Amino acid sequence: MTLEHDVDHATPAAAGHEWWRSAVIYQIYPRSFADSNGDGIGDLPGITSRLDSLAELGIDAMWLSPFMTSPQKDAGYDVADYCDVDPLFGTLEDFDDMLRAAHERGIRVIVDLVPNHSSDQHLWFQQALASAPGSRERARYIFRDGRGENGELPPNNWQSIFGGPAWTRVTEPDGVPGQWYLHLFDSSQPDFDWDNEEVKEEFRRILRFWLDRGVDGFRVDVAHGLVKDPQLPDYTPSPDAASMGGEETPAPYFEQAGVHEIYRDWHRILSEYDGDRALCGEAWVSSVEKMALWVRPDEMHQTFNFDYLMASWDEAELRDIIDRSLAAFSGVGAPSTWVLSNHDVVRHATRLSLTGENPQGTGIGPDFPGIPKYEDGVRRARAATTLMLALPGSSYLYQGEELGLDEVHDLPGEARQDPTWFRTQGERYGRDGCRVPLPWEDSAPAFGFSHTGESWLPQPKRWAPLARSVQAQQPASTLNLYRQLLQLRREADLGSGTLECVPEFGSGVLAFKNSGVLVVANISGADVTLPDGHEVLATSTPIENRTVPRDVTVWLKEITH
Ligand code: NOJ
Ligand code: CA
Repeated sequence: MTLEHDVDHATPAAAGHEWWRSAVIYQIYPRSFADSNGDGIGDLPGITSRLDSLAELGIDAMWLSPFMTSPQKDAGYDVADYCDVDPLFGTLEDFDDMLRAAHERGIRVIVDLVPNHSSDQHLWFQQALASAPGSRERARYIFRDGRGENGELPPNNWQSIFGGPAWTRVTEPDGVPGQWYLHLFDSSQPDFDWDNEEVKEEFRRILRFWLDRGVDGFRVDVAHGLVKDPQLPDYTPSPDAASMGGEETPAPYFEQAGVHEIYRDWHRILSEYDGDRALCGEAWVSSVEKMALWVRPDEMHQTFNFDYLMASWDEAELRDIIDRSLAAFSGVGAPSTWVLSNHDVVRHATRLSLTGENPQGTGIGPDFPGIPKYEDGVRRARAATTLMLALPGSSYLYQGEELGLDEVHDLPGEARQDPTWFRTQGERYGRDGCRVPLPWEDSAPAFGFSHTGESWLPQPKRWAPLARSVQAQQPASTLNLYRQLLQLRREADLGSGTLECVPEFGSGVLAFKNSGVLVVANISGADVTLPDGHEVLATSTPIENRTVPRDVTVWLKEITH
């Protein structure tokens, strides 16, 4: 690192030993994890049935993408009832069973909360449609009269993040074209009006509902978007219109100052409960320095470090972001988080080796130039993960990365389901390629995902050798690498450690010490010969003659006599 100072990530005494400061949190995308009833869509009993494999992996917690009642227009990020389970995924009882079974195995459970918008099938939105302009029912969402002589133009020029206009015009109860409502995402996802006290009160109730059931925390969807500039001014984003945010000058619908008061309120609610419940924000903001504002002591506990996720496999870029993250987050007494993959981005076994523009928000398809050979992509991904898991703070894993799954870029158009694909008439591929159901067993129907062989997105045949059952038998598999790293990380308590720069390995190589472990990541440098007097604890790919080539990360320990 360029760390002139050693940043003490584990922060002040006041910070205590809250579990989330150093946890490895595994993201489950419920519809693609494991299907118990054979309909081709993963579900809660499916998760419960596979918990032993997560316990064996050695994670501390899991975060579940939404499983609440939803018409599934955006794979559950369109919630119609926040306090019930969609029949597709099971019942509240299934949830309680899963939670109990996870806790019995020492795994904490975080659920996804979607406060920026509901589904258009939510009772409140249906009531709003049936009510008059200016009514209490409409005031829970953002309804406005249109511009133009007869209100035929949307109230402003905002575009949906999924493509197309961010406003849809309704037909009033008397049958005439009427007001418009705002939806930053799909037209089936109307935005709440967070200036409305009823909305605030309803979300307090929802938080308590899940806290009372025993969840350990919430991942907060679009945490930077709840409050809008009240003037709703026209706004043209930078050319990357697909962006979830993170622009230098924030859009009038992102990063508005008022959001922080909402999270202070929620922090107070979580504090009333025992067991260190935590909030993790999905806030796409432009710099880690700004991200740190989300995790001041009385706000959220964590926020996703998307700058780290967006960084290329480049020594200088990684050095800079790691350095700045530790400085910015420790400056407010919070841990940094680290993340390489999730359900919205191209899997890092593919992404880190793509040449050219980062396809964030657009996704990749069959004709995308520069798709790496699997062996090359996964080698780099393993090196990247071995680097990430050595960093102090909390790391997020996305289901399937422990199998080295790559992006399924060659999904046929007719299989794709992401609203982005439809709203842009196929111009943007969207995110289906990272959401393909997991391969559990190489020779079972649907690779063991579903006993009927059904799978809501087709699984590529080339995944057979990547199935968990195969990798469990191979000492050098990606699965066994993850298990080994998680165990060593826990034993050495790397998550709570302090990072110290080790500059002597030359350019293209990132090296540091954390809690007595020397980490050498050869990103793009010449071959590195390992120093004498050190034993190798782990290598992202097996090495020969104590030589670390590029795209390999090793963990070492000094031999003491
Ligand atoms: C972020 C979620 O991660 C993404 O999957 C979803 O489409 C949008 N928010 C809208 O809820
Ligand atoms: Ca199912």
